[in-house]
Amino acid sequence: MQLIRVSSYEELSRKAADIISAQVILKPGCVLGLATGSTPIGTYRQLIERFRRGDLDFSRVTAFNLDEYLGISPEHPQSYHAFMQEQLFRHINICPRRCHVPEGCAEDPRAFARAYDQAIAEHGGIDLQLLGIGNNGHIAFNEPGDAFIKETHVVSLKKSTIEANKRFFTSIDQVPTQAITMGVGSIMQAKKVLLLAEGPVKKDALEKALYGPICPQMPASILQLHPDLTVICHVDG
Ligand code: F6R
Repeated sequence: MQLIRVSSYEELSRKAADIISAQVILKPGCVLGLATGSTPIGTYRQLIERFRRGDLDFSRVTAFNLDEYLGISPEHPQSYHAFMQEQLFRHINICPRRCHVPEGCAEDPRAFARAYDQAIAEHGGIDLQLLGIGNNGHIAFNEPGDAFIKETHVVSLKKSTIEANKRFFTSIDQVPTQAITMGVGSIMQAKKVLLLAEGPVKKDALEKALYGPICPQMPASILQLHPDLTVICHVDG
């Protein structure tokens, strides 16, 4: 594991964008695993700037997002589809048909989940997986539980996640209670993983994830077993 401690969110975002840029430059047809949430917004801004300067070309990149709320249409302003369009996709030259975000409104979410894993496998897996970490140690929406789940699956969100994500909604009862999420299989099979942790609120989860026991009650702890993990953190205020 490579642990990079930085002193500002700006620096975290620049360094994360450096790593993603290097991936896209070295392998223009790469497969990126992408995350939503507050943490990667600065990274995406950096990538957009670099694209606008002519330093990056996303025309051959394929993206698979980690997760989506269940029962929310792609047009819903708080959907992760809308987030990705707004924060990244519509500002760069990535091909829309190469942008994959789980379908929150799939008629049969379980069949969709199987097809999502198959599509990732057919693309040869993920080259670089970008991750945030939940206050409760979740990665994607792999919530603390009794077992690690390998496959993309439907999950009931923990109270702590609903509480943390209510800031994006008008009230807590607007926050969906279920989601569809990539499992830890595709994440652990990614060739490289880049985990970002921003803010003192993530300090405890990050320490437990990186140095505590590897257990499903702390889903991010499985990353200790990843052979090429880079962590960029700004958790000391
Ligand atoms: C988002 C995701 C989540 C977030 C995590 C941190 O696609 O998979 O695991 O990365 O909840 O969210 P923020 O960055 O908002 O603190």
